[in-house]
Amino acid sequence: MPMADRKTALITGASFGIGLELARIFAREGYNLVLVARSADKLRQLASELEKAHGTHSLILATDLTEPGASAYVLDQTTRADIQVEVLVNNAGFGQYGMFAENDLEECLRQIQLNVTALTHLTRLYLPAMLERKSGSILNVASTAAFQPGPLMAVYYATKAYVLHFSEAIANELQGTGVTVTCLCPGPTATEFQQRAKIDGIRLTKFGTMDAHTVAEDGYRALMDGKPVAISGFKNWLVAQSVRFAPRRMAAAVARKLQER
Ligand SMILES: NC(=O)c1ccc[n+]([C@@H]2O[C@H](COP(=O)([O-])OP(=O)(O)OC[C@H]3O[C@@H](n4cnc5c(N)ncnc54)[C@H](OP(=O)(O)O)[C@@H]3O)[C@@H](O)[C@H]2O)c1
Repeated sequence: MPMADRKTALITGASFGIGLELARIFAREGYNLVLVARSADKLRQLASELEKAHGTHSLILATDLTEPGASAYVLDQTTRADIQVEVLVNNAGFGQYGMFAENDLEECLRQIQLNVTALTHLTRLYLPAMLERKSGSILNVASTAAFQPGPLMAVYYATKAYVLHFSEAIANELQGTGVTVTCLCPGPTATEFQQRAKIDGIRLTKFGTMDAHTVAEDGYRALMDGKPVAISGFKNWLVAQSVRFAPRRMAAAVARKLQER
């Protein structure tokens, strides 16, 4: 595709897992990329792979999105490089396992900073230009954790409920503007996430995991179709729906069982 015709997608958390697979898909579909994560080497490796495979131009922003100035830095860098971000993918996120009262407080707050604050901040920073152009789309990665409370990962589940509700609300506000918002809700997916959250061996993952590429394809398709919410995988969809009919206390009790080893 000629360089002038290429649109740009900005993807947070592009160094591993679902974000990395989304970067590969957007590159395959002819987008240039802004790749954001902390692991500069991984991002450089990915950019080089995608340039060879698809002629993709990538701007690498190796930054920690839990730092208060990070979202503004990302906007500043894309503005300086004269990049018009057509698609914003807020994918970076992590989870913390354990009893809330015993978990490390700093890590708990970083989780909210990344999963909630950075996602909200980047959305707010990139929306005005999209609205002015009457064109753009935002993909926010939540989780099936968004549909019920999650004992033993209380803060993580709550951050994902925020992402789902926030995304659905602004998708509604943005109707008719030319800008769409899609919330992707993956279930357990084989990535670095489990190891980082220290949830290896919990019951939930014993029911099987999806692969990151399939989840990313589901997210890409839903975004292109302008769907407000996409739950990846039929089994995950079924579980998310079943919660609607359960008393809330029962939903929490079942989630607790699934979170235990
Ligand atoms: N895997 C699952 O079972 C699952 C299920 C439902 C939803 N999700 C959600 O899917 C999204 C992607 O997760 P994943 O499964 O692909 O996990 P992953 O393999 O651990 O990837 C997470 C990505 O986020 C980036 N990241 C983490 N902390 C960051 C920070 N402080 N600043 C900037 N980037 C940061 C990581 O890059 P660096 O380490 O290089 O910074 C990495 O690229 C997350 O929002 C997660 O909550 C995952």
